[in-house]
Amino acid sequence: MPDGGQLIIEVRNAEIDEAHAASDMELKAGSYVVLAVSDTGTGMAPDVVNRAFEPFFTTKTVGKGSGLGLSMVYGFARQSDGCVKLYSEPGHGTVVRLYLPRASSSAARATPQEEAAAGDAIPRGQEAILVVEDDKQVSQYVVRQLRLLGYQVMHAPDGPSALEIVRSSVAIDLLFADVVMPGGMNGLEVAAAAREIRSGLRVLFASGYPEAVLARHEAPVPEFAMLQKPYQVVELARALRQALGATAASAR
Ligand SMILES: Nc1ncnc2c1ncn2[C@@H]1O[C@H](COP(=O)(O)OP(=O)(O)OP(=O)(O)O)[C@@H](O)[C@H]1O
Ligand SMILES: [Mg+2]
Repeated sequence: MPDGGQLIIEVRNAEIDEAHAASDMELKAGSYVVLAVSDTGTGMAPDVVNRAFEPFFTTKTVGKGSGLGLSMVYGFARQSDGCVKLYSEPGHGTVVRLYLPRASSSAARATPQEEAAAGDAIPRGQEAILVVEDDKQVSQYVVRQLRLLGYQVMHAPDGPSALEIVRSSVAIDLLFADVVMPGGMNGLEVAAAAREIRSGLRVLFASGYPEAVLARHEAPVPEFAMLQKPYQVVELARALRQALGATAASAR
């Protein structure tokens, strides 16, 4: 809505019966909560509607949109066993409807902190980790946590500088890469290029975007573990031990 307008957020219950479900590829019969977000903005032409959920698809200029907004919503809806519907009238506006299965019971699960307290101690290690992370605050935090866990840590703020380190002769046991980064290379591309240089290099990804969203994007190295941001130190520590133990050949 570049010139302003009305944004309406609605929540309601909806029952989808068998007949309705049969006529809809994505919806299963059941009880849903529908969260609808409507705007009176520019709307989308059909060809844009068709591609709007595609990761990295954007009609905005460089720096204005990542093209991950709606694909994130899509991933979230699918991961929740629901779906998302898009309705748009060019020149009039857009409605995005999220169908989420209604919970029949309340959630009662241990928090990660409780799990950590109940479970074993935080695993430590001494391996050399190359952290690729563009966000200064996040990287400072991660580097500090990793050092406290015992690791040797190097940091690169973007893909090209990470690859410079990979090309050098310095020991690297694992590449810990953020997925979505500026600088022309995303984490998946950095990992793929790094493994061209050092085959067998172990990789762990971190992302704030749901895995399903990223999986829909053609990932060059989809076989590696993904840590969901925001993560707890204990989750990071465990994911690292798993990733470090996972593949055979050391790439030193
Ligand atoms: N409410 C909307 N009204 C009109 N067009 C939209 C709307 N939402 C998305 N679009 C169109 O779909 C494209 C993809 O949307 P998406 O939210 O995935 O990415 P983005 O808005 O371009 O970037 P980001 O959300 O990551 O900042 C947009 O570039 C735009 O063309
Ligand atoms: Mg958007």
